[in-house]
Amino acid sequence: MAMPKKRVAVLISGRGSNMASLIAAAKNDGYPAEIALVLSNRPDAAGLARAQSQGITTAVVDHTRYGKDREAFERALQDVLTAHCIDLVCLAGFMRLLTPWFVGQWQGRMLNIHPALLPEFKGLHTHERALAAGVKTHGATVHFVSSEMDSGPIVAQAEVPVLPGDTPETLAARVLEAEHRIYPQALRQVAETI
Ligand code: GAR
Repeated sequence: MAMPKKRVAVLISGRGSNMASLIAAAKNDGYPAEIALVLSNRPDAAGLARAQSQGITTAVVDHTRYGKDREAFERALQDVLTAHCIDLVCLAGFMRLLTPWFVGQWQGRMLNIHPALLPEFKGLHTHERALAAGVKTHGATVHFVSSEMDSGPIVAQAEVPVLPGDTPETLAARVLEAEHRIYPQALRQVAETI
């Protein structure tokens, strides 16, 4: 008998192209996860309309309503995730740092995609920094989220070449294609094993 699909929430802050790649992959019958919810901390995130156009349930927890109280924001996130019976969380361009409390709630059940070959270039502006460092190979990483930023166990990586004449934008576009390939693969692998 087929296993029930894992219920996934994709957390976004912006355009949601990685979210869209997960939604597309999860439409396949044999895929072990379904995108049950797209949740944004920004009411104006472009990805929300994109998800709705695919028939996906969306929700917003606007972090600006909670001021400096990160845990109050995260308790609100947690309430929404619980209400939707979520098994797995995928961060996809979700630009909030998470507290150890929230990370602990999702230990082993929360993935992030980062636009670099971790442990190189943690944090922001990874493409600019890769070009400035003169690396020949850059890429993307899917990893479990741990309480230290961009540091949890790695699930999948893809390398892309840095080409002569690359700008942060051309390099970002090449890396993004790799992101869209590896995130659905990594989610498949994790959804099949938890
Ligand atoms: C992606 O490149 C993702 O790797 C990056 O933000 C972009 C979101 O694009 N995430 C981070 O930098 C996390 N620190 P998307 O909204 O089109 O998926």
